[in-house]
Amino acid sequence: MTLRSRIIGIGSFLPEHISTNDDMAKIVDTSDEWIVERTGIRVRHFADENMSSSVMATKAAQQALANAGLTGDDLDLIVLATVSPDKTFPATAVYVQAALGMKRGCAFDVVAACSGFLYALRMADNMIRLGQVKTALVVGVETLSKITDFKDRNTCVLFGDGAGCVVLRAEEGKGTPADRGVLDTLIYSDGSYAPDLCSTGGPSTNHEVGYITMNGREVFRHAAVNMAEVSQEILDKNGVALADVDWLVPHQANIRILEATAKRLGIPMEKVISTVDLHANTSAASIPLALAEGVKSGKLKEGQLLLLPGMGAGFTWGASLIRL
Ligand code: COA
Repeated sequence: MTLRSRIIGIGSFLPEHISTNDDMAKIVDTSDEWIVERTGIRVRHFADENMSSSVMATKAAQQALANAGLTGDDLDLIVLATVSPDKTFPATAVYVQAALGMKRGCAFDVVAACSGFLYALRMADNMIRLGQVKTALVVGVETLSKITDFKDRNTCVLFGDGAGCVVLRAEEGKGTPADRGVLDTLIYSDGSYAPDLCSTGGPSTNHEVGYITMNGREVFRHAAVNMAEVSQEILDKNGVALADVDWLVPHQANIRILEATAKRLGIPMEKVISTVDLHANTSAASIPLALAEGVKSGKLKEGQLLLLPGMGAGFTWGASLIRL
């Protein structure tokens, strides 16, 4: 027997304000045609001045808890992934903890950019497998609009805001890929690529929050390769054939990266959940937002096998294999 982290609730939140590509063309020298052709993005959601990451994360968490039939008090752990925290410290997770009325256990953040949800999932799953916690909330949330330079057309058209999360509960499994829950998660990083996608600021360097800066071509070059390779690795490690995967639910950076990943891996686009057109790149929030959309649309169903690859600043990358 093996302890598994089964997903018993999924929640998401997108801020009300929607910005179209034409809206972006009023701010920088760009066009709907350029953005759609190069990225597949059509619209993105932006948080207003008063909406912080913890506010959005709490809304998503409340939905996931309701979905699971639980309250904040039932949680032993919150792991929250973000690169756009409420404050430099404390962790955004503790604001969510307080807002949910959770008085026990622990709550902390992880910073792994677009791979953040996978890192957070791995931490929570590890603690569940070790028997340290029974019920955990794993959140990916970003208010990237607050760290975006709206004078830089190379980056400002690419990102959006949102939150997504899952509630995990410990359950006995047989230790085979037929089990429901998180079957495995692999995470990697290579810090030598940090300058290719980073913030221009930080408390211990220049006392600033900074803006997103990116070497788009370098990121693009690595994204599909890393996501396809780590996907194949996790399948091989778990003795699962690609044909057994029902859905690829990848980090949503760019439709061309999704297509290139699917092609390299050998999975048809019909089996790929894509939300990049509607959400743009929401970094740590993108995978759980795609999961939530997939469930809402009726595509993702109980018992199906999902493969979740991601790649982001660091560079960080990874993949999770989950049976819903
Ligand atoms: N509108 C119009 N033109 C733009 C533009 C925009 N929003 N952004 C950049 N351009 C211009 C560039 O300035 C460049 O012009 P130049 O040739 O006169 O210098 C031209 O478009 C081509 O730029 P290039 O970088 O070659 O485009 P690309 O085909 O590589 O696409 C990205 C650019 C950013 C879409 C692409 O590199 C990409 O998707 N990278 C990955 C980004 C990403 O997903 N990051 C997060 C990963 S977690």
